[in-house]
Amino acid sequence: MSRSAHPAGPRHGDVLPEGHYTPPPSDLNSLDPRVWAQTVERTAEGALSVGGMDVRRLAEEFGTPAYVMDENDFRARCRAWREAFGPDADVFYAGKAFLSRAVVRWLHEEGLNLDVCSGGELATALAAGMPPERIALHGNNKSMDEITRAVEAGVGRIVVDSFQDLARVAHVARRLGRRQPVQIRVTVGVEAHTHEFIATAHEDQKFGLALAGGQAAEAVRRVLGLESLELTGIHSHIGSQIFDMAGFEVSARRVVGLLTEVRDEHGVELPEIDLGGGLGIAYTSEDDPREPHEIAKALGDIVTRECEAAGLAVPRLSVEPGRAIVGPTAFTLYEVGTVKELEGLRTYVSVDGGMSDNIRTALYDAEYSVTLASRASEAEPMLSRVVGKHCESGDIVVRDAFLPADLAPGDLLAVPATGAYCRSMASNYNHALRPPVIAVRDGEARTIVRRETEEDLLRLDVG
Ligand code: LLP
Repeated sequence: MSRSAHPAGPRHGDVLPEGHYTPPPSDLNSLDPRVWAQTVERTAEGALSVGGMDVRRLAEEFGTPAYVMDENDFRARCRAWREAFGPDADVFYAGKAFLSRAVVRWLHEEGLNLDVCSGGELATALAAGMPPERIALHGNNKSMDEITRAVEAGVGRIVVDSFQDLARVAHVARRLGRRQPVQIRVTVGVEAHTHEFIATAHEDQKFGLALAGGQAAEAVRRVLGLESLELTGIHSHIGSQIFDMAGFEVSARRVVGLLTEVRDEHGVELPEIDLGGGLGIAYTSEDDPREPHEIAKALGDIVTRECEAAGLAVPRLSVEPGRAIVGPTAFTLYEVGTVKELEGLRTYVSVDGGMSDNIRTALYDAEYSVTLASRASEAEPMLSRVVGKHCESGDIVVRDAFLPADLAPGDLLAVPATGAYCRSMASNYNHALRPPVIAVRDGEARTIVRRETEEDLLRLDVG
């Protein structure tokens, strides 16, 4: 039976099964610019193109699934953040969102700094030539090896997260005869409005030293007493995928409160504050993220106001956006393998990837959008669930979305806003081969991270 003719499939206006779906757009072929990378468009032939490259050609040349990244969009977002914060602030891109040597070079060229949180991220940053003084090292349990490599390399900042971490950084710096600049990561006690797993500033979690109860103030005392450490500032990161600026404002106010206490107790004015990352992006048309200039203004105003009230010189501000820079710049290109209709429920559309290339839906109940990418279609909207090829029913890429009812095996689907925390959290579950990252710019496409091969898998298996 032809899919478009199926009478039992949910249609716009029907009472639909429980779910998170947003109503079908009036035109399934339309592309919401908030969700898609800047150069993505639907060409006259109906297929998507990005950076002047037709996705059908990309699929042919590079295979599917693949992450397709719009390099010009990435660079434009870097510039927007830099310009919004201006010369008196620093923008550290959070490498955990997605890191590769090409990305490090783009960041370097666009004047951004880089936040790393593991030896592997540090190695990538250094291998691609990021100047060490523009690197910050994070982590709640950095190994002695990671600390040693960072201090040896001369990273510009280590953010200490606990008393043990502080002692270890001091020990390494002393042994190497260095005076290492550090910031202290504090938990400001803010409940960020985001998923529990990615909120980080409430008190009952593993990161940072609490302002309440005086741990943070005690860490300041200890660092100030150590020759091998130079305390440059205070760091706070309240969580991720946040839209509401209120949490950042409370965080800024409390961090400035600590700077004031430090001045009163020690007679020292710390020159820096870092308010972390966490700014949300649009995954679906329902999301309405803030622009970098609005964020810069809101944060700059609150810090200035609080410092003036306390009689402090305004410190140098830094921020650490990861998702807000790379998230919207990429989409995942999949090929449809099977289309299975469950009468009166929804249609399951299986693609050639899944939770191994995007764990976010399973892990955080994240919402994504999806569009038919290889052609336009005028068929009826069909309530669909885009699922992967892994051996569990939680293997969902897009929980509820409308796709055209004439969808068929061989069609290409594109899931936008997968630049952040998808490739970087990808796994080899079921011995899946992690997809490549293809960078597209001005009509040219190149692999920046290649597709894994079965040889790659077998190379690690030495039994
Ligand atoms: N700075 C610090 C200290 C962080 O821990 C993070 C993220 C960032 C900056 C960057 O946050 P962003 O601007 O990207 O929100 N895997 C989760 C997100 C975990 C975020 C961890 N830390 C997800 O897929 O939503």
